[in-house]
Amino acid sequence: MASGNAVVVFSVSGCCMCHVVKRLLLGLGVGPTVYELDQLGRGGREIQAVLSHLLSAAAVPAVFVGGQLLGGVEKVMSCHINGSLVPLLKQAGALWL
Ligand SMILES: *[C@@H]1O[C@H](CO)[C@@H](O)[C@H](O)[C@H]1NC(C)=O
Repeated sequence: MASGNAVVVFSVSGCCMCHVVKRLLLGLGVGPTVYELDQLGRGGREIQAVLSHLLSAAAVPAVFVGGQLLGGVEKVMSCHINGSLVPLLKQAGALWL
């Protein structure tokens, strides 16, 4: 699932930080694949458990770029602020310009 698109966001509907991350990516011109885990039933809860283990924090939002886990909202924001996010997205083929 995480490698099905250049950028994949695992989210929960109604989660504020998930909304922030999705808005940021859309604002940069990226069209991420978004999985709303609360709408996936049992499988979604299992994915949430795995993600919260990987991130050792809140499971969502979890952002994968080029099939690799980038991180949660703090990681995405700090990469955005220090200018490393856009090159990463370009490298993954999520952005051309
Ligand atoms: C930008 O910040 C991220 C997250 O803290 C870090 O992993 C990355 O190495 C930094 N990149 C640069 C170019 O400073």
